[in-house]
Amino acid sequence: MRPVFTSTTATAVLQAVALASAQAITWDEAREKASADLAALTQDEKIGMVSGVTWEGGPCVGNTYAPESIAYPSLCLQDGPLSLRYANPVTVFPAGINAGATWDRELIRARGAAMGEQAKGLGINVQLGPALGPLGKIPTGGRNWEGFSSDPYLMGVAAAQTIEGMQESGVQACAKHYILNEQEHNRETISSNPDDRTVHELYLWPFYDTVKANVASVMCSYNKIDGTWTCENDEVLNTLLKGQLGFPGYVVSDWNAQHSTVDSANNGLDMTMPGSDFNDPPGSVYWGDNLAAAIQDGSVPQERLDDMVTRILSSWYFVGQDQDYPAVAFSSWDGGAATVNVTTPEHGDVARAVARDSIVLLKNSNQSLPLGAPASLAIIGSDAIVNPDGANACVDRGCNTGTLAQGWGSGTAEFPYLVDPLSAIQEQLAGGSTEIVTSTTDDASAGAEAAASAETAIVFITADAGEGYITVEDNAGDRNNLDPWHDGNALVQAVAQTGTPTIVVVHSVGPIILETILAEPNVVAIVWAGIPGQESGHGLTDVLFGDTSPSGKLPYTIGKSEEDYGITWTQDLVDDFPEGLFIDYRYFDQNEIAPRYEFGFGLSYTTFNYSGIKVSVTAESGPTVGEIVVGGPEDLFESVGTVSASVGNSGTVSGAEVAQLYIGYPESAPSTPPKQLRGFQKLNLEPGESAQAEFDLARRDISYWDADSQEWVVPSGEFQVYVGSSSRDIRLTGSFTI
Ligand SMILES: *[C@@H]1O[C@H](CO)[C@@H](O)[C@H](O)[C@H]1NC(C)=O
Ligand SMILES: *[C@@H]1O[C@H](CO)[C@@H](O)[C@H](O)[C@H]1NC(C)=O
Ligand SMILES: *[C@@H]1O[C@H](CO)[C@@H](O)[C@H](O)[C@H]1NC(C)=O
Repeated sequence: MRPVFTSTTATAVLQAVALASAQAITWDEAREKASADLAALTQDEKIGMVSGVTWEGGPCVGNTYAPESIAYPSLCLQDGPLSLRYANPVTVFPAGINAGATWDRELIRARGAAMGEQAKGLGINVQLGPALGPLGKIPTGGRNWEGFSSDPYLMGVAAAQTIEGMQESGVQACAKHYILNEQEHNRETISSNPDDRTVHELYLWPFYDTVKANVASVMCSYNKIDGTWTCENDEVLNTLLKGQLGFPGYVVSDWNAQHSTVDSANNGLDMTMPGSDFNDPPGSVYWGDNLAAAIQDGSVPQERLDDMVTRILSSWYFVGQDQDYPAVAFSSWDGGAATVNVTTPEHGDVARAVARDSIVLLKNSNQSLPLGAPASLAIIGSDAIVNPDGANACVDRGCNTGTLAQGWGSGTAEFPYLVDPLSAIQEQLAGGSTEIVTSTTDDASAGAEAAASAETAIVFITADAGEGYITVEDNAGDRNNLDPWHDGNALVQAVAQTGTPTIVVVHSVGPIILETILAEPNVVAIVWAGIPGQESGHGLTDVLFGDTSPSGKLPYTIGKSEEDYGITWTQDLVDDFPEGLFIDYRYFDQNEIAPRYEFGFGLSYTTFNYSGIKVSVTAESGPTVGEIVVGGPEDLFESVGTVSASVGNSGTVSGAEVAQLYIGYPESAPSTPPKQLRGFQKLNLEPGESAQAEFDLARRDISYWDADSQEWVVPSGEFQVYVGSSSRDIRLTGSFTI
């Protein structure tokens, strides 16, 4: 078995972009250049730079008016978080949720860098990703898969790595959706009203990381917060993002999320997209001439427009787009054929590495996996093959037909090709003696028939979700439940009940309830493959046949029932977030509910042992009061010490372990989740080899948000330290006292 997770191509992609970004400048220098330009611009040009040219008014999904007085283009903004929508060819990478499941900083960064190289090659100035909202408090939430995890720490690390990779390539990243847009139902009318502590410790947390990672732009979301639309919300845009987080870039509206001329301008929006409104009334324009008039009559100060333009120009200079940036090389509206081919074999390799290393092995009885060369192998389910009408047959992937490798909505792209599981398995076994029997529908009796005479069966099942503007099989974005689609439980039952040992592969946007499947004694293995993008089949066979040990870990909890999560989407137009801090594993832990597979869980083909925990943490208790810099108070990210432990590969094959650090707060911190992820490290280990996992703790990692004083506070007392292989498989414990 070869070394596991960091492909040499990931390293090569990173080295290439690091070289290209060598002449990076600071935000202050960027702002100076922007300020110098401001003086040269006419009022009309300034208005044009903050206003979109209307939907389908330019080649990209978002375009601004180009000024003539300075060398600055019509800015091109294009979806999305896993690839570039509408353009082709592009590489369709595994979704954010798969990148999160790798828990591999370098690989996540390489994915970002590869996406950024393609964006730049296509002349795209702003790539609309990564997604770090929704956080995924609702397990059925339609867009959870666009982001990385329902834990804010993992979400923040993964988003920051993605942004740094993208921006080193030269494209501006756009952190979205800001903020508290947790469900698709009524997303444009619902008001999210959480308490201030919940906002800071869960939903705002990953945005600190992205601002600290120098993200160029942030997209405000569709929903309201405390009754006011996010894109005209002074508290959310000015007080939190530009104030507490020190964000120096610009805020762009989600497409159609602007609802006013004056309030949006005065309360912190910097760019409107796509420029014209879709519905209210159709074609109406809030900025453009209306913004000019509002400045003329004094309802919006001139300084506000100048600030918008300065922020937009600063971000453009900050990522170096004033240096020979390519022109737009495709149009979204004519099939998207690009005049350049921006895909490379290395980008395909990164996609395959993420597909492979995001696979979470949930169950593996009697070492059923890896597979050798069985005499006969039955491949069962419509998810084993590409949609017979073509991988891109459904607009924005708005159907669940054929193998599932992306969710649906604006965060998707056109597959250049899609390696399905069946072809990858055929490729793997070519020339051997294994007889492959197939049943590539979801018909249970046909599946059973194929399985009956086979030595081993692999059943493929799915669960899909997406953006609410498309309804798929009666699911209006958010999922209706956590069951497998197409009666996947019945398909697995029928196959397993033939007596043939059955391996279940799950392609899913998030958790599904596995109890019916686990009740079948012949289900010997369960492989969670997420939504793995164009290299789906290859990533899977790399693991199934033991070329690589599985090394993904769950980026969320799999419960025994949907009720166990204590939360689902609502038809109400108000969500008070009554669950507060207690979502996903924080909820299961607090309420002592046994999950089926806990957050952070994942098996390997080898085993790991842990020993020698060392805890060295010292900090002053009390508030964090440093000056605000880019990312927040400067002392918030100060190191307060480290926790370390030895991790060894105690099995017989090479593998990678994600060592995880969780912290329990002292009682002086009011009602805090029993443990919270505060560090992780993925270690690649040969049999018998040991390495040191080292977790650096920042002041934020031991703080809570005190809503009364509006400060991050380090509580005093004894903190518990947990190091382990998952959130429940704790191998070592320690403590420190502050
Ligand atoms: C683009 O380049 C890739 C190699 O990186 C190649 O496989 C593919 O066929 C090319 N596509 C087109 C449309 O030229
Ligand atoms: C695992 O192996 C044991 C002993 O050979 C056998 O009794 C058991 O049925 C096997 N379990 C499965 C799920 O195949
Ligand atoms: C793991 O176990 C082996 C065998 O007992 C031992 O030699 C090794 O030191 C252990 N490694 C760690 C990190 O505990």
